[in-house]
Amino acid sequence: MTSRIKFTNKFGFIAAAAGSAVGLGNVWKFPFEVGKGGGSAFLIMYILFCFVLCFPIMVTEIAIGRRAQKSAAMAFTPLGHRGWSWVGALGVFCGILILSFYNVVAGWVLGYFVEMLLGNFDIGQHFTEYVSDIATVSGYTIAFLITTSFIVLQGVTKGIEKANKIMMPGLLAIMLFLVAYALTLDDAMKGIAFYLVPDFSEININVIYRALGQSFFSLSLGLGAMMTYGSYLSRNEDIIFASALTTLTDTMVAFLAGLMIFPFVFSQGIPPEGGPGLVFMTMPGIFKSMGPTLGIMIGSLFFLLLSFAALTSTISLMELPTAFMVDKYNIKRKNAVIYSTILIFIVGIPSMLSNGYSGFFTRFITYIGADTPVSFMDFVTDIASNTLLPFGGLMVCIFSIYVWKRRKLFRELTHGNENFTKTFIARYISFTLQYIAPPVLGAIFIITVLEIFFGVNIF
Ligand code: PHE
Repeated sequence: MTSRIKFTNKFGFIAAAAGSAVGLGNVWKFPFEVGKGGGSAFLIMYILFCFVLCFPIMVTEIAIGRRAQKSAAMAFTPLGHRGWSWVGALGVFCGILILSFYNVVAGWVLGYFVEMLLGNFDIGQHFTEYVSDIATVSGYTIAFLITTSFIVLQGVTKGIEKANKIMMPGLLAIMLFLVAYALTLDDAMKGIAFYLVPDFSEININVIYRALGQSFFSLSLGLGAMMTYGSYLSRNEDIIFASALTTLTDTMVAFLAGLMIFPFVFSQGIPPEGGPGLVFMTMPGIFKSMGPTLGIMIGSLFFLLLSFAALTSTISLMELPTAFMVDKYNIKRKNAVIYSTILIFIVGIPSMLSNGYSGFFTRFITYIGADTPVSFMDFVTDIASNTLLPFGGLMVCIFSIYVWKRRKLFRELTHGNENFTKTFIARYISFTLQYIAPPVLGAIFIITVLEIFFGVNIF
């Protein structure tokens, strides 16, 4: 086995894994999904999925990657199961699809950083016009894509670790400050109630489906991103600890984002089910209310730190096609990055043009389950994050238990955690992978494919 470049220590890996997980998924996507999914109903399902289903799957993905010493699409071959490579390839495809819209939203964040610096707080009310300005949005999107490419070029094990150690706590600190500020506003409690007071009547198949997709998306699971990072992890490190810390951090940031946004949303009378613009329509008004000096400072810092969080996620996404080309075709990393960038740019054009709001790509497609045409972005979200990621997770479970076998998975997990097999966590992981994840993921997959894409009414 050739030796692969490794993260220099445990915190390097955790910073990268948590950096991949924490991103726009937490601060942009999570709040608007909660808003659409009836508030607390969505939150309950989301947290349940993160800890019960996703944590064991994260552990398994990282273990497979570390054992195989190969990135996602190539990981199954060295384990002796070449026939499973399509699961990895599907993940690479999924990563490209996700990047196609993720870059655009990251572009909006970068643009908002500049607008906040200029003190343009009224932009929140003009969000729709802002994102339909194709020249501006494309400029920021391309700038973001190229920044990602440059960092991926250096290799994911270098470079971002140090910056991440400052940026991630920075984002947490500013969010805590904003939560405290939020609670002082009029109508804040209405937002908190919407977010936290359980309303089980709102739970339906659509909420379950979207909460499941969101938990996979937010934890970067089901497409081999964690598998690829695992392949750069040394065997002295404890996968359980790293996964637990990553899951906890990610869920906490998402939870805080909700705690921050909903009081802001209700205090300004913005409808919570407003969709992907929610954060962008809500935040500027809040910064305005802080007065010009503080508003500019906090506002620009917030969007700057959020851009950075997005960057550590796009890096892990771009690493998927890049590592795939390097591992499979043995080409230079530099060329792999160039090809990946071009590919992602091309696939991202529809998202860049539509921005989900105007023109052809806004009313992109009607599939049977949707009553009205949905935007290209919603379509990609439905296909990639809500359907394919949980499906990828299902395949990882089946592979690890029935094909690779639990014994080998557990043996890999004892490297860096000698007593692992004797712990409660071992039993819990084994039980979930075997008895909970396959039926739950399988059933939700079948139901949603039938309901959403074929219009069959099951419930
Ligand atoms: N988890 C990232 C976020 O929350 C997005 C992501 C998805 C990154 C899948 C990598 C793989 O923003």
